[in-house]
Amino acid sequence: MRKKLLLGNWKMNLLQAEAKVFAEASRALTQKAKAMNVMLGVAPTYLSLQTVKNANPELIVSSQDMHFEAKGAFTGEISAEMLADIGISWTLIGHSERRSYFGETNLSCNKKIKKALSLGFTVVYCVGETAKEYEENQTKQVILDQLTVGLQGVTEEEFQRIIIAYEPVWSIGTGLNASPEHAQDICSFIRKTLATLSSKSRAEAVQILYGGSVKPANVKAYLLQSDVDGALVGGASLTVESFEALLTQMA
Ligand code: PGA
Repeated sequence: MRKKLLLGNWKMNLLQAEAKVFAEASRALTQKAKAMNVMLGVAPTYLSLQTVKNANPELIVSSQDMHFEAKGAFTGEISAEMLADIGISWTLIGHSERRSYFGETNLSCNKKIKKALSLGFTVVYCVGETAKEYEENQTKQVILDQLTVGLQGVTEEEFQRIIIAYEPVWSIGTGLNASPEHAQDICSFIRKTLATLSSKSRAEAVQILYGGSVKPANVKAYLLQSDVDGALVGGASLTVESFEALLTQMA
C-alpha cells in the first residue's frame, strides 16, 4: 500500500523569519499527518532548509535542486554533499521552472538523480508536458523520454527512493487545472513506463504525485485517482492555513 504524500514547493518565496513561523506552526500538522498516515514535507529555498528542519524535525525538508558534482568551480551552485552535510536527504529534480528558465535537460537531470541516489537521497523527479506538446498530443512521448533518459542507470535498490511528480507545465501557477481523468491517464502511463524501466512490483510501490494549480478545493479529486498518491503544491503551500486545508482533504 503506497503512502500518500503532500509536498509543498516554496520556489523563491518566504524569508527566513517567515519560513520559521511556518515550520513552527506546522508541528501540529505533522502530528495530524502522522495520525492520517500521510507523509508531509516542504521544499524551501536553500537558505531556509536548516531553519525549517530545526523548527520542525518531523517535517520532510527537501531541496529544490542540487548540482551533480561534489565540489569545484561551479559558481552559485550547491552540491548534494553540501545538502547532506546539513542533514538534508530529499531533493526535487527537473522541476519545469529549472527546465525552462535554467536549461535543465533530461540528461542533466539524470546526472543529478544518480548522484543524489548514490548519497542515499530520496528524489522527487518532476516530469510534464508543455502547452504546445499537450495540444499536439505529444504528452506521453515527452514523458516517456523524460523518464527513460532521466532514470537511466538507476539501480533496483535506488528505485525505491524515486518519487515521480507529474506536473503539466501549462497547469503550473496558471489556475488551469488538468482534469483528474487526464492526471490519472498520465500517472498510470508513468507507472507502466516505470515497470519497463525496473519491474512491475517496484513500479507498483513508487509514489506518483500530481502537481499544477492544486488547491484545497481540488486536491481530493486528484487523490481519488488510483495512480495518484499525493500532490506537489506551489502557491497553495505558502501559508500554513492553506497547507493544513490541503492536508485535511487528503483523508
Ligand atoms: P502551483 O505550482 O501549485 O503553484 O501551480 C506547482 C509546482 O510548480 O510544483
